[in-house]
Amino acid sequence: MQKSLELVRNFISNGILLTKVSDGLYRCNCPFCKEEITSMIVSSSLQEYKCFSCGKNGNITNFYMELNHTDFFGAVKIATGKDADSSQFYKENEVYYRMNTDAAKYFYKTLHSISGQKGLEYWRSRGLKEETMIKYGLGYAGAFGLYDNLKKDYNIKSLSKNGLIRSKSGKHYDFFYNRVIVPIIDENNNILGFGGRVLDDSKPKYINTGATPIFDKRMHLFNLNIAKNTHRDGFILCEGYMDCIGLYNGGFDNSVASLGTALTEEQVHLLKHYTNHVYLCYDNDEAGKNAMDNAYNLCHKQGIYIKCIDLLEAKDPDEFIQKYGSDAFEKQIIKSSYYNG
Ligand code: UTP
Ligand code: MN
Repeated sequence: MQKSLELVRNFISNGILLTKVSDGLYRCNCPFCKEEITSMIVSSSLQEYKCFSCGKNGNITNFYMELNHTDFFGAVKIATGKDADSSQFYKENEVYYRMNTDAAKYFYKTLHSISGQKGLEYWRSRGLKEETMIKYGLGYAGAFGLYDNLKKDYNIKSLSKNGLIRSKSGKHYDFFYNRVIVPIIDENNNILGFGGRVLDDSKPKYINTGATPIFDKRMHLFNLNIAKNTHRDGFILCEGYMDCIGLYNGGFDNSVASLGTALTEEQVHLLKHYTNHVYLCYDNDEAGKNAMDNAYNLCHKQGIYIKCIDLLEAKDPDEFIQKYGSDAFEKQIIKSSYYNG
């Protein structure tokens, strides 16, 4: 059956009681802030709604994004009943997503082969359980091999555009080599790119997929694919891949991290589809404090409740768990206090 995209009809079909104010204008209790007053106005002529209590407003797509805690594509799918995979953007860029999936499989396979032994030992030395490694699809990139593996299925131009190879004097090299690999996955479980970490103290510690047709690091949050399914209250906002992975390994599946830049407005907007409660848990140093001020300002502007986790003598949440254990971290969550900048 064809679904109606008329806003008022969609309010009604979601069980929201409307009272008529005048022709084409209705009032209702806001389904988002759940105040016991009819603070929301729905206009059938404008096809827009607005709550005068919490301020949420928008069109039918925004309505489903808020109601179902989903992104634009998810909302379109709910509203129209059509699969999000058929979205134009995904279809046009399908080759890049598929290529990343194949690369991730290759890195994963390498980690569990003889040549990946060093990588496996590295992840173990960070205290990771097998289950955690599998959940994150962690891998290893050896000295070479990715290009050889992918070149039969993909052309050089698209491999290069997607950040997997670099070319120099007519020769092609793997972008990631001799590094352990963390796939960067979006909230719909598409692989957008990778972070690769050295196994020792050499620099740069991480290299990451740069800007590609499907990846803009300012628009995504690491670990959102996992955190969005948490049963815990709120999200823990931290700085790095290893913080999220270490927290998950210690029993906390509700963290997200920005991707090597200061937190952006777009990332906060994305996070707000799922929660309006954030625990700031940035590194215990000067840079972490500055990053936290920025995160506070951005979250505050978008009406998010912010608490702050004290890491005691640990430098980041991953080290906290290693040093004091998960029970101690749970206590710090409970003890955390509202942060006012
Ligand atoms: P951190 O130095 O805190 O990294 O940088 P981490 O995730 O805790 O990793 P470990 O514990 O040292 O192994 C925070 C984030 O900044 C980005 C990465 O996204 C990293 O997760 N970063 C850091 C880089 O992109 N490149 C770097 O060289 C360092
Ligand atoms: Mn760390």
